[in-house]
Amino acid sequence: MLPDMASALITGGTSGIGAEFARQLAARGTDLVLVARDRDRLAVTAAELHAAYGIEVETISADLASRDDAARVATRLEDAARPVDILINNAGFGVHAPLLSDDTSPHEHALAVMCTSVLVLGGAAGRAMRARGSGRILNVGSVAGLITMGSYSAVKAWVLSYSQGLAVELDGTGVTVTALLPGWVTTEFHARAGIGTRSIPQQLWLDPEALVRSAIRDLDRGRAISIPSVRFSVLSWFAMHLPRRTVRWISGRISSSRRRERSEHPDVTTLKADS
Ligand SMILES: NC(=O)c1ccc[n+]([C@@H]2O[C@H](COP(=O)([O-])OP(=O)(O)OC[C@H]3O[C@@H](n4cnc5c(N)ncnc54)[C@H](OP(=O)(O)O)[C@@H]3O)[C@@H](O)[C@H]2O)c1
Repeated sequence: MLPDMASALITGGTSGIGAEFARQLAARGTDLVLVARDRDRLAVTAAELHAAYGIEVETISADLASRDDAARVATRLEDAARPVDILINNAGFGVHAPLLSDDTSPHEHALAVMCTSVLVLGGAAGRAMRARGSGRILNVGSVAGLITMGSYSAVKAWVLSYSQGLAVELDGTGVTVTALLPGWVTTEFHARAGIGTRSIPQQLWLDPEALVRSAIRDLDRGRAISIPSVRFSVLSWFAMHLPRRTVRWISGRISSSRRRERSEHPDVTTLKADS
């Protein structure tokens, strides 16, 4: 475990899973650098965390779809005068555009934010931490990366594979890399992406507080893969061990129930996650 007074940079630290990482790390005395696009929300979140926990909070307004903005955040990570001990690569969103669509922009946007910027920031943090001989990197993937539901699954499969590759390169340096694979979590994620949630059984939803508590335990231990909750550990085990044909069949069933829900309830985007 890193000393409690460490510092952490969290992308997407203003909402959902990222905001919960910010709260729990702040509660143990960790100074924060929060990255997101919305400046007002960054300022409000920073003020609340400073008031509640007395920690220092710096904010960087950046759109991680932009290479220039990602490079600006990377420069902050490599600033030797202000070392960052923990990187939480969390910013992301759902994608439900069909892979056959002739408009590839939603997929390219997802690749830029959830792959390219993760690569740029992970490399910058890894170099700086390796030079100091310690550090923790956590990349937020998804159990969706274990199945085959369009570009979101492909992007999150990349995050899992990338994280393990980075862990291999950093082995023995004092820097660890953890891929966090959440299941369905009650955040703004589904409403923002217009993804229906009626077909998801109530008992499968994870609470961000419990998810992040478990993830931080795994981060402290330097575990390579973190899958919070027994339910999703078991489901993930099946996704990793069933024949791929079966996994594709299950993925098709989930996708078609989502499509049916969208056609039956086209105006409803904020469902169980917010109710
Ligand atoms: N919720 C789930 O069920 C679930 C399940 C598995 C994995 N995940 C993953 O968990 C991560 C966090 O999602 P969440 O559920 O916490 O979603 P959320 O509540 O919608 O929060 C997303 C955060 O990312 C930031 N963000 C989005 N696009 C960005 C961009 N282009 N540049 C910089 N920041 C950006 C948002 O701030 P701004 O809008 O101000 O930029 C916000 O702070 C994502 O990687 C997601 O794929 C979520």
